[in-house]
Amino acid sequence: MLNLAILASGRGSNMVALIEAIRDRNLPVNLVMVVSDQSNALCLQKANELNVPAYTFLPEHYPQRTQYDQALAEFLKAKGVDTVCLAGFMRLLGSNFVKAFPERILNIHPSLLPAFPGLHAQKQAIEYGVKISGCTVHFVDEGLDSGPIIMQKAVPVYDSDTVDSLSERILQKEHEIYPLALELLAKNRLKIDGRKVVILEENKD
Ligand code: GAR
Repeated sequence: MLNLAILASGRGSNMVALIEAIRDRNLPVNLVMVVSDQSNALCLQKANELNVPAYTFLPEHYPQRTQYDQALAEFLKAKGVDTVCLAGFMRLLGSNFVKAFPERILNIHPSLLPAFPGLHAQKQAIEYGVKISGCTVHFVDEGLDSGPIIMQKAVPVYDSDTVDSLSERILQKEHEIYPLALELLAKNRLKIDGRKVVILEENKD
């Protein structure tokens, strides 16, 4: 059983997709809490509505980024968390955080990595002129959106697309693959082999 924290900064639609999947599909995941780096974030309100303990952990309270990362890791560990899903968490977490949860941090990113890492991935895709974009669930390493890829889903990019219309099309796919990737992790079906993530056959026992 994974002891999971979901970290989110904004609207929290991926957070909701994960919570619903955990509940509806009865995943072997103990959802410990949701944490946001923003007070008043919509994700906190949604977590409350879904009866998930929700906390704010504000960067303003820490003079340095590394201190925030360290304190957040310690807070999660003290609550028994062993696995973290970043769901629109718009802060880069440093190496001391990543090292605290080895191979146990997932992220969703709205592009087909390694294309368009970082902020505003959908805008980057439109400006570059790609005809296909999508989303990626990956393990988090110490780089920017650079960890081993678990799952990707593609969508077309149309000439008429705006950042909003493309973001919406990608978001629908995010809500499909993030819960699937979490399910695979929870069922011990992901094996990291260098840069590659191998999906293991389901154990039928
Ligand atoms: C999602 O599109 C997610 O992929 C993106 O932020 C959005 C959050 O939406 N994340 C990043 O860009 C991370 N670099 P949500 O709050 O509704 O899940």
